[in-house]
Amino acid sequence: MDLTRFPRRRYTEGYTPIEKLARLSAVLGGPEIYIKRDDLLGLTEGGNKTRKLEFVVADALDRGCDTLITCGALQSNHCRLTLSAAVKEELKCRLIIEERVPGTYNPGASGNNFLFRLLGAEKIKVVPGGIDEVEEMQKMAAEAESEGRKPYIIDGSNASALSALGYVACAEEITAQLFEKGIHIDHIVCPSGSGGTHGGLLTGLLGTNTDIPVAGINVRRSKELQEEKVSDVVKRTVKFLDIKSDVPKDMIVCFDDYYGPGYSLPNDKMIEAVKLLARTEGILMDPVYTGKAMAGLIDLVRKGYFKKSDKVLFIHTGGSPALYAYLETFLPEK
Ligand SMILES: Cc1ncc(COP(=O)(O)O)c(C=O)c1O
Repeated sequence: MDLTRFPRRRYTEGYTPIEKLARLSAVLGGPEIYIKRDDLLGLTEGGNKTRKLEFVVADALDRGCDTLITCGALQSNHCRLTLSAAVKEELKCRLIIEERVPGTYNPGASGNNFLFRLLGAEKIKVVPGGIDEVEEMQKMAAEAESEGRKPYIIDGSNASALSALGYVACAEEITAQLFEKGIHIDHIVCPSGSGGTHGGLLTGLLGTNTDIPVAGINVRRSKELQEEKVSDVVKRTVKFLDIKSDVPKDMIVCFDDYYGPGYSLPNDKMIEAVKLLARTEGILMDPVYTGKAMAGLIDLVRKGYFKKSDKVLFIHTGGSPALYAYLETFLPEK
């Protein structure tokens, strides 16, 4: 696939590492688990949104925009990284922050909320959960225009076909790395939220003719709804790239047993997974996405979903700054 036809900014030097998780694999008694360290991507504290923003911010710059506007939850990694990209590009950034659970917004909270301030968001507007975010961003953009700015709106889920190119590129990167290392991977596991990462990976693997199955671990929706969402991302991205074939329906696989009691709310398996990764590999997961996705991987291992001889690659999509807003979930040690 020729992705060079799309303007792209580069925020990471070279590839992110693929590392073998030898101690975790030993503790679980196999399979052999590897990790793609997208938590080490560029921009502030890395994570999957960095890859998506490379294409989206390039588009904003191409259009001569000077102010990025986006939205997200109280601990949004997407908002942190959009703001970080704006800093790097000498753009301004304004954020709509959605208080999804009433009464939970705390302007002094740590984690990403602290970073919104440290990185110098030009404006932060906190709105109640369930509000029409698109309308709010449009209002914010109109306000910026009235001040003589040229705003660029990035949708909160950042799951457009353009942003999905980030994980199409990542699939190409992974196949090149595995070839160099001489490793054959049997399964990929990743978190599945807006579906941009999951759908982008599936599209990229299709485009490189690589049929590694990808298991998405849902962070906020039922299996049925999430598989539809991922399928929609794949369809739009395949069309955008003008790929002639499609990802077969049975290759779109999501698991919904690990996000309860709801989006961003802690559960015991997530806590176990975050602690296990910290204490076997010294790697930080986050409570909302990768902690739950890793909990899914661990449970699938225990249920015998993988063969002991398999090699499984986990995509670490970042998010660890949110850990510092969840101290009471992990401490004091019980
Ligand atoms: C750290 C982290 N991991 C995973 C995801 C989910 O990725 P996607 O929205 O591409 O499905 C997000 C989305 O916000 C995220 O911030």
